[in-house]
Amino acid sequence: MTEQLRFGIVGCGVIGALHAKAIRSLPTAQLVSVVDVIPERAQKLAQEYSVTPYVDAQEMYAKEHLDVATICTPSGMHGAHAIEAMQAGCHVIVEKPMEINLATIEKMLHVQQETGRKMAVISQHRFDSATQQVHKLVDEQEFGRLVLGNAVIPWWRSQQYYDSGAWRGTWALDGGGVLMNQSIHSIDLLQWLMGHVKSVYAYMDTLTHRMETEDVAGAVLRFANGAIGTITATTSGYPGTSTRIEIYGDKGSAIIEGDKLKHLHLARDDKEEIGFYGGIKPKATDSGAQESAKTGAADPAAIGSDTHALQIDDMIRAIRDNGTPLVDGIAGRHPVEIILGIYESARTGKEVIISTAGF
Ligand SMILES: NC(=O)c1ccc[n+]([C@@H]2O[C@H](COP(=O)([O-])OP(=O)(O)OC[C@H]3O[C@@H](n4cnc5c(N)ncnc54)[C@H](O)[C@@H]3O)[C@@H](O)[C@H]2O)c1
Repeated sequence: MTEQLRFGIVGCGVIGALHAKAIRSLPTAQLVSVVDVIPERAQKLAQEYSVTPYVDAQEMYAKEHLDVATICTPSGMHGAHAIEAMQAGCHVIVEKPMEINLATIEKMLHVQQETGRKMAVISQHRFDSATQQVHKLVDEQEFGRLVLGNAVIPWWRSQQYYDSGAWRGTWALDGGGVLMNQSIHSIDLLQWLMGHVKSVYAYMDTLTHRMETEDVAGAVLRFANGAIGTITATTSGYPGTSTRIEIYGDKGSAIIEGDKLKHLHLARDDKEEIGFYGGIKPKATDSGAQESAKTGAADPAAIGSDTHALQIDDMIRAIRDNGTPLVDGIAGRHPVEIILGIYESARTGKEVIISTAGF
């Protein structure tokens, strides 16, 4: 293996360009080539980064001897493109969602085992320092018994956004609307912090956009550890405000807004005596947050590449040390399964049991 891992990008749209920036920022990675079925898109990105453009992925794999392919195509193509790359000998970093149905996800996991390649699924907000800090405290059981976990995604996408690509807002290629596309980040964080989701009950609708899939949804969750939670999400909430993840336990609570820790209060830090009714004074541990303009709440292109770079770096380490990336294929399946459960519940009006809650 050469000093720098050789990277190729499959799909040169909004997120492909961000992958190029993230790869370029890492000394351990070298962007070698990009491919897109629209030649001008491949040429434009290739020119910007002085790499080789392709219109055919097979040709790129045959000529470039890549170590890693990053899959940045529409969501319903991730499986086919990741499988093609692994069978050509590449490790893969797959954009979220891993895929839009569980049968294809199983195929991806099967090919990964068969080829012995590594797979990471992008969930870049797991690498935000606020999320890392709260996750460490959950691991250390500092919140006590977790009882409630909420994710609120009050975002905005215009009709032009949905019209900007024929795949957007379709069941066949986007795999869903606000949940599968925009909210999967927060749903992944919620289940990473609170534990596996056992069952869901949900409503959804398409209230303001011309598209097939939902632009508003609400779900009640039961976690495997007995805690209860909610997911409420929309892309019709003009002008789009920060996502909010709330974690409550009987020894502490945390709120992450945008990607900042807005509130953290742990019983272990309370020096005063707790009053008869359990009341205490507000603590200095409540940390105020700066609103981040780079959350994608109103503009999908307005996200930074830093956390993508951290996740790509995590994958490089996994490849070099023969380890496991933080978000591997099994981890990538969990939020998709929750979302598909929500869709099924909203369609049938019934509670849906999530089958891998025990994994
Ligand atoms: N992690 C994040 O924050 C984030 C943000 C935006 C998008 N995404 C994900 O990235 C993926 C792409 O989204 P986007 O907004 O960049 O879409 P996009 O439409 O801007 O780009 C997709 C590109 O893939 C190309 N393409 C289609 N078929 C191809 C093929 N067979 N071979 C090569 N290229 C092909 C298209 O021509 C297009 O240029 C989606 O799955 C989306 O969910 C993730």
